[in-house]
Amino acid sequence: MKKKPFIVAIDGPAGSGKSTTAKLVAKELGVTFLDSGAMYRTVALAVLKSGEGFDDPDKILKILFSSKIDFKFEDSRLSILLNGEDVTDGIRVPAVNQVVPIVAAMPEIRRQMVPVQRKIGKKISIVAEGRDIGTVVFPKADLKIFLTASIDTRAQRRFLELKSKNHDIALEAIKKEIELRDLKDTQRKISPLIKAVDAIELDTSSLTIAEQVDFIVQKARERIS
Ligand code: DC
Repeated sequence: MKKKPFIVAIDGPAGSGKSTTAKLVAKELGVTFLDSGAMYRTVALAVLKSGEGFDDPDKILKILFSSKIDFKFEDSRLSILLNGEDVTDGIRVPAVNQVVPIVAAMPEIRRQMVPVQRKIGKKISIVAEGRDIGTVVFPKADLKIFLTASIDTRAQRRFLELKSKNHDIALEAIKKEIELRDLKDTQRKISPLIKAVDAIELDTSSLTIAEQVDFIVQKARERIS
């Protein structure tokens, strides 16, 4: 008999370690990793490339409908293609960080993205990460985790990540950017970042990646079995 697909939802603020953790949890469980933030980032990049502004949701929808966005999973690495161009790294640059909250706060855009995410979760088992996965996208997820970490820890992590990609940005500037994004993500009207009542909160400030991955994998195995 075919097993029912299961869903692990990992939500939390910027820099809490969601992507790294979710990717490794998915690998450990042998299922697909769904990076929902990458979807909003790709739309933001498409708008930047088009030269249009960010004030008209209809124009942004038009850009979305005329773009081809593909997700490729190879050797547990997720690549994102925008109109055939690999934008996996291009969606994580500071210029995109700045405008992505505007796109993510548009109901018109979320109305397009959420069904795509649900469709994937209906067909296959996934570990999905974002801001509204456990609250809006998959309220019946088998396991919900809310990852947090102190603002200093999160800024330090982003700083090291950007440095490894040769982006030289001051730690203080990163901290400010994260604080601003937290504010926008938690205070927006549609699907704000909040902990689902039935989510397990995990503060990763003093945990290693391996520790947080082990914790989630163990919880997931308990729930699934
Ligand atoms: O996780 P991230 O930094 O890649 O997310 C990019 C932006 O998209 C961030 O501003 C929050 C937003 N986002 C969202 O609103 N809902 C999601 N499910 C995922 C991300």
